[in-house]
Amino acid sequence: MKALLPRKVAALTLTCMKRHLYPLALAALFACTSTATRPSASTASQATLAATPPTTTASVTAAKAMVVSAHPEASRIGLEVLRKGGNAYDAAVAVQFALAVALPAAGNIGGGGFVLYHGADGQEGALDFREMAPASANRDMYLDAQGNVVPSRSTAGHLATGVPGSVAGMEALHKKLGKLPWAELVQPAVELAARGLRLTAKEAAGLNNNRENFLKYNAQTPPAYVRPDGQTRPWQQDDLIQYPDLVRTLERIRDKGRDGFYQGETADLIVAEMQRGGGIITKQDLQNYQAKWRTPLHGHYRGYDVLAFPPPSSGGVALLQMLQMLEPYNLGALGWHSPQGVHLITEAERRVYADRAKYLGDPDFGRVPVTQLLDQKYNKNRMATIRRDGRATPSSEVTAGVGLPGYESDQTTHYNIVDAQGNAVSCTTTLNGSYGSKVVVAGAGFLLNNEMDDFSSKVGVANMYGLIGGAANAIAPGKRMLSSMTPTILTKKGKLAMIVGTPGGSTIITSVMQGILNVIDYHQDAQQAVAAPRLHHQWLPDQIDAEESALLPAAQDTLQKRGYTIKTGSHWGRMEIIWVLPDGRLQGGADPRGDDTAVGY
Ligand code: GLY
Repeated sequence: MKALLPRKVAALTLTCMKRHLYPLALAALFACTSTATRPSASTASQATLAATPPTTTASVTAAKAMVVSAHPEASRIGLEVLRKGGNAYDAAVAVQFALAVALPAAGNIGGGGFVLYHGADGQEGALDFREMAPASANRDMYLDAQGNVVPSRSTAGHLATGVPGSVAGMEALHKKLGKLPWAELVQPAVELAARGLRLTAKEAAGLNNNRENFLKYNAQTPPAYVRPDGQTRPWQQDDLIQYPDLVRTLERIRDKGRDGFYQGETADLIVAEMQRGGGIITKQDLQNYQAKWRTPLHGHYRGYDVLAFPPPSSGGVALLQMLQMLEPYNLGALGWHSPQGVHLITEAERRVYADRAKYLGDPDFGRVPVTQLLDQKYNKNRMATIRRDGRATPSSEVTAGVGLPGYESDQTTHYNIVDAQGNAVSCTTTLNGSYGSKVVVAGAGFLLNNEMDDFSSKVGVANMYGLIGGAANAIAPGKRMLSSMTPTILTKKGKLAMIVGTPGGSTIITSVMQGILNVIDYHQDAQQAVAAPRLHHQWLPDQIDAEESALLPAAQDTLQKRGYTIKTGSHWGRMEIIWVLPDGRLQGGADPRGDDTAVGY
């Protein structure tokens, strides 16, 4: 009953809002809320300014197994692997390679990522296949002779590329946990690349927008992403795109595993590409690359155990800190995106992102104080400094050490998988920027990442996004750049409850948190939770980024009067959620901002 009431409120309120009858919407919300949750007088007045997320298509439900990814072909391939007896880890390998073909903006073999898993037997693990700096990288490699950051040197072209980790990561995952033969899992991607794909409207637009960059950074060999000479019209929806070079690369990976990428012909082609464009990755860098198993982090939120990714992700630590800070408050009673709710969430975000800037980096290169940051008392004390009158604490008053993390773009991707046994995989993978460095390895047909930009190019100096880098994340040979990727799994009494993750650069962490709050505190279903407009604050710049229609005008007005700067727009990642219903069925939410698809059986 408790879980149903807010939905009734939502339906009634939404009907009013659709007809632009905001006062009626507010009245409906107030009337229902007061009987549902009996908030205190001050809470009730805040709840009247709560918004209602727009209606969405229904969540997908399935009895046993599910794949949610950013591309329908990748989701289909993952589900086929599950249907023929593969486990969630097998399906993850197949989905990763399928996305490398179907989603060139972010799916990859030339990038890296994080896999978090929770097995049906309670086993769990965190696999770090993040890119690393080449051996000849150095702290000042993006500075000119005067010590100034050279614009775009770390964001595009050959020098922007870190040593890729995805193929090593997939092999490590498969070796430890896979069931079906490796070749069977790579083969669907080979076939997909050979057959080609019909472009969706969004993909066609993405390729057209990047045409000049593809030509600029691949001057000698225009890649498959550029429409062939003589075909002057731009890509359109339903055009067929094929990848003959990528077919051969995937065949080598299928037949030789990681050696088909880090050695032999593919490695030769990568190094030749580096030499052509002034990059620094060598054969030795490729051979030395290793994926690393790390120990997942654990936190708690309203009776759920939250399994999160440790550094070099900043996401797990930051997420668990924010959940600790927010748990004492009854966010549900305050209402979704009410001024008081937004105040609490924003102040938690502000403080946590300040910590992220100062303390987080690659744990193999410096001490990262994870235990201290996840200490209950520490986070309680941090939250004790927020203003009780609902006003903003200016970021200039939140001490945070010396710097800020690099901004990461929204072109990362995430997939969730559950198999019929209950094994769960949450994987976020990336090239960093949209289409990474824009460099396609000639003869090998895949894009290289521009992940080096996730390092701080120079401590204390704003990067191309106007943000400042911190010392813990300075460049060093072999080091992994700090990430915001936040693959997350929730369990309750040892049983799988939720898998969640998203792209979105620095908004990843706050988006994952909102996915969790949307389901647990605001009782949205999986599809509503991924589709709901989002808010984000990252300490600096001192502003709330708001997606269109995330706030009621009156709520926005109240927040502004309380000292908050609100900026509408910005880019938002495509979040995926699988939520386990009380009867054990799986409910999938696939982000409607992209071509994301949930499938199951
Ligand atoms: N490049 C996106 C991230 O790692 O956070």
